[in-house]
This record gives sequence, structure tokens and C-alpha cells, in this order.
Amino acid sequence: MVSPSVVPYIFLLLFVGCSARPLYPLPGRRNDRNKQPLQTFRAYNIAHRGSNGEIPEETAAAYMRAIEEGTDFIETDILASKDGALICFHDVTLDDTTDITNHKEFANRKRTYEVQGVNTTGFFLVDFTLDELKLLRVKQRYPFRDQQYNGEFSIITFDEFISIALDAHRVVGIYPEIKNPVFINQQVKWPGGKRFEDKFVETLKKYGYRGSYMSKQWLKQPAFIQSFAPTSLIYISNQTDLPKIFLIDDVDMPTQDTNQVFVPPHLVSTSYWEITSDSYLDFIKEYVVGIGPWKDNIIPVSSNYLQIPSDLVARAHAHNLQVHPYTFRNENKFLHFNFSEDPYNEYDYWINKIGVDGLFTDFTGSLHHYQEWTNPFASGEKEATRLLHKIELMLSKFKYFN
Ligand SMILES: *[C@@H]1O[C@H](CO)[C@@H](O)[C@H](O)[C@H]1NC(C)=O
Ligand SMILES: *[C@@H]1O[C@H](CO)[C@@H](O)[C@H](O)[C@H]1NC(C)=O
Ligand SMILES: *[C@@H]1O[C@H](CO)[C@@H](O)[C@H](O)[C@H]1NC(C)=O
Repeated sequence: MVSPSVVPYIFLLLFVGCSARPLYPLPGRRNDRNKQPLQTFRAYNIAHRGSNGEIPEETAAAYMRAIEEGTDFIETDILASKDGALICFHDVTLDDTTDITNHKEFANRKRTYEVQGVNTTGFFLVDFTLDELKLLRVKQRYPFRDQQYNGEFSIITFDEFISIALDAHRVVGIYPEIKNPVFINQQVKWPGGKRFEDKFVETLKKYGYRGSYMSKQWLKQPAFIQSFAPTSLIYISNQTDLPKIFLIDDVDMPTQDTNQVFVPPHLVSTSYWEITSDSYLDFIKEYVVGIGPWKDNIIPVSSNYLQIPSDLVARAHAHNLQVHPYTFRNENKFLHFNFSEDPYNEYDYWINKIGVDGLFTDFTGSLHHYQEWTNPFASGEKEATRLLHKIELMLSKFKYFN
């Protein structure tokens, strides 16, 4: 039997299930009280740096395209400018994804800094003020992707990113990362001794982001906070109850924060194997609702063939942690041979065989189409009943109605 607490969701689901989801128009400035809610019955579609498979990453255009294509969450990396503005940008240097080298006025800004133990040379975002950054134009990272938008769009701020999500016609979640916090806190200083993490949470609060996972407030303005740095996630745990995701890098990468002050000494861990151990998951689950591992660590790859899947997803689920792997990409060069060069096969495998709870994708439109076309409501009542049972189990597991 379906318990009474899920009845409103059933109506919602039937409603959503009856009509194939339309492509969404570009966001406009509307005060919409009855926005179409976030879907919560299937794995989350997370638009990695916007729809960056099509449009240069982390630009307003890439995020609006992702919303139009049906994403659940728009994802971004937050860094800080010299004058302390929070900026949506992935790399610590501007070299690979902007036209910085065309700007002769900045030719003398090239620097070398040690970033996470590696001496890196280039034009560093932290050496430019917000006004200066706004003079630059973003370009596509990969040469094999569409270059026609190079030079069209500017870098955006965290505030601008949030307004894109809030202006959408339906509820669109945000998924910002506290990026390179050790480096940013070394290079950028804020009044009153505030840290990067403090400014990050302040910005979210300013726009009304609050509430624990699946709470009423959260469903109104959903957000996941992500970071590779456990210290940052633990540090902000007293400032916001928004759900947090602990990102896990490649097996040979040490964890990002060397100064793990809030971590008990016996769990100060730097290797992939330590931070994916049962004892570490036990510890970190007090602070996060899930982990975000690189997908090739969940299933090792050799000669472009999948090997035997690790038990990481099963162990994370046993600790009540969601798993949101990164990054799914349509191009053949990123698809393992097992998927017959078909990204839908890859989504099918990860969603239905591995059972992940969210997917970071460069092609949010492809994932959305896959999920719509395999929508169980299309294939009759039996499937719908099976799904409702699954939802009920999920609801009780995560105690959504606390
Ligand atoms: C980076 O370069 C500086 C100056 O040459 C050197 O002292 C330091 O050891 C280097 N750091 C690393 C991690 O290679
Ligand atoms: C959060 O606050 C509690 C109670 O004030 C304190 O014991 C704890 O150390 C704080 N944690 C962090 C990470 O600041
Ligand atoms: C992927 O393909 C390889 C080669 O055929 C095979 O050994 C492996 O078991 C496949 N992996 C999965 C997870 O299907």
C-alpha cells in the first residue's frame, strides 16, 4: 500500500507523467508562485558548467540553454576576484577558456603560484578585479566543440548565476562548488577577516537559499553545495543546513585541503582510499548528503573498456549517502567501448544498473531526452505502481517528512 504521506506526490507524478515535458522557454523576469516543481522521483540531471557541450562553459547563455533543455540543477564553480567578488569560473587561470591573451593591457599580469602543490603559470583570476574580468570574453575549452560562440559572452558572478536560476519559469536548482578554497583564502582577503566560505554562504542566504534536503524551503529553491575540501564543508555546516556533496577526485590526487582542522586526527586523510573507506564515510555523512566521485573511479577503465564495478556506490548507499558521479559527455572520445558509442547506453547503465542518484553532464539535453523517453509512465499502470513503491521506499529511507 502507498502511505497517505506520498499521495500529493502521486498526483504530481501523474500530472507530470501525462504530458511529455515541453522544452522550456528562456527564463524571463516573472513572479511565479506556481512554478512547476523540481522532479524528485528520478536521478537528478545536473548541467555541468551549464550546457557546456554546446555553449562556452559557465556563461549565462550556457545556463539558460541548460534550463531550456530541461535540466534539474545548473552547476557552477565559484572562485574569487582580486577585489573579493565571487565569480563563476572553473580554472584558477584564465588562459584556456577566455581571450585574455588578446588583451595587451594585461600582458604583464602573468604569474606563477603554487596551487595544490603544483607550480602553475598563467593569468590568474585572483589577480584581476571584477571590472577587469568583465572586459574578457569566454571561449570553448575543447577544439572539437562548436566554436561559433567564442568571444560572445562574458564571465558572470555568483549573484548573476543565482538570478538565472531564480528567473526560470520552473523551479531550477543550483549546484555551486567551493572551488580551490585553500588557494583562494591565501590570495584574496575580505574585510573583518571573513573567509571565502563565509562569503559563499552569505551569498546563498542573501537570495533565500536555506533548508535541509527535501524540506519545504529547499524544494522552493533547491541547492546542493559541493566541494573537494572536507574542511570547507565542515566549516560551513554551522552556517547553513543546505545539503552538501563531498567531491572525490582521481585515485592519485590528494584531498584538497592540507589543513583539515575540523577532522579528527585519526581521520585526517589524504588518499582516495582513505576518503572512500567505511570509517571516513561514517564520519563525513554527518556533514553531507552525498558524494560526487569521478565515474571512472566507481568503475575502473582499462583500454577504454569498463572493468568490474567497485563497491563504492553500494557502500555509499549503505551509509545513506547519495552518489552523483561526474562527468558524462556525448563525444565518442569520452564514451567507453561497452556503450557502442551511444551516450543513451551509458545513461541507461549508470541509472538502471549502477543506480546513481544524480549525474553531472556536459549535455544536459541528451540526459533529459533519455529520461523523458524512458519515462515509466509511458508504459502503463504496472510500471507506475512499481515506481510508486520505489518512491515510497525512497521517502521513508531519507525521512523526507521530518
Ligand atoms: C615552486 O617554485 C618555487 C620557486 O621556484 C620553489 O621554491 C617551490 O619549491 C616550487 N614548488 C613546487 C611544489 O614545485
Ligand atoms: C559548530 O558549533 C558547535 C556548537 O557551537 C561547535 O561545537 C562546533 O565545533 C562547531 N563546528 C564547527 C565546524 O565550527
Ligand atoms: C566491457 O567490455 C569488456 C570487453 O568486452 C568486458 O570485459 C567487460 O566485462 C564489460 N564491462 C561491463 C561492465 O559490461
